Amino acid sequence: MNTHFTDVSIQKVRDYWNARPCNIRHSTAEVGTEKYFMQVEARKYFVEPHIPLFAEFEKWRGKKVLEIGCGIGTDTINFARAGAEVTAVDLSAESINLATKRAEVMGLSDRIDFFEANAEHLADFIPAQKFDLVYSFGVIHHSPNPGKIVEQVRANFVHTDSTLKLMVYYRYSWKVLWMVLREQGRFWRLDDIIAKHSEARTGCPITYSYSKKSVETLIGSGFEIDNIFVDHIFPYQIPKYVKYEYEKVWYFRHLPEPVFRALERRFGWHLCLTAKAV
Ligand SMILES: C[S@@+](CC[C@H](N)C(=O)[O-])C[C@H]1O[C@@H](n2cnc3c(N)ncnc32)[C@H](O)[C@@H]1O
Repeated sequence: MNTHFTDVSIQKVRDYWNARPCNIRHSTAEVGTEKYFMQVEARKYFVEPHIPLFAEFEKWRGKKVLEIGCGIGTDTINFARAGAEVTAVDLSAESINLATKRAEVMGLSDRIDFFEANAEHLADFIPAQKFDLVYSFGVIHHSPNPGKIVEQVRANFVHTDSTLKLMVYYRYSWKVLWMVLREQGRFWRLDDIIAKHSEARTGCPITYSYSKKSVETLIGSGFEIDNIFVDHIFPYQIPKYVKYEYEKVWYFRHLPEPVFRALERRFGWHLCLTAKAV
């Protein structure tokens, strides 16, 4: 088990995500407007088209969904829009505020309960209940003790047959190689390098990364894996991307699409796991 970040304070993590909630710059429209939220969603699923496929929003109509680390609520809204009854938590008050506003603007407030909470102590914040789906996309690897979040879920919020859908970062990915090259190959500082470069804003206090084996160990014996795969290589030139232009870097521009897809499925940054509680 990687314990590199266990001593980092949760306040440091909270401050980081409050200073710039995830995907907050995905639109130039006025923050909090319908146009803003629509543009955030369009950009997110354009750049990460595997998310709706992984989440299977429609499948959860009429079901109870717990989302851990909802950020500004892009997936949250899609679960609710598809007809799920959603409970969404996040550590960052700024993110929760915006996600709450989003639910209001989209007319979905009655389907979503939001909680500002550290998921490592989930049962202290959320009333005891069982969920059909526990979903967490790109979250638990930013917490000091990701295993504690899994433990909270397993002990309190799932019944036999509940589904767990988890995305954590993949250690043996193209993106990690790119980071190490950027840092002059100092691979012995790998965990710090990954944390430094993992997000849009540099200097994330905590970013763990996993192999297929180590994520299996993380979720432990209370879950049985149905499906595990990697996906997602970010192919765009960053200086253009931040200006909402989508031009690929030269080495991906000339790659045939099937070859690029094969690379994503082998060296993608997102390690996506679907498991059943047993
Ligand atoms: C990369 S963002 C992902 C947000 C969202 N899932 C998405 O895909 O847009 C990571 C989120 O995890 C939240 N987070 C990190 N540690 C957490 C914890 N211990 N409990 C709850 N949320 C946490 C952060 O506040 C942040 O909003």
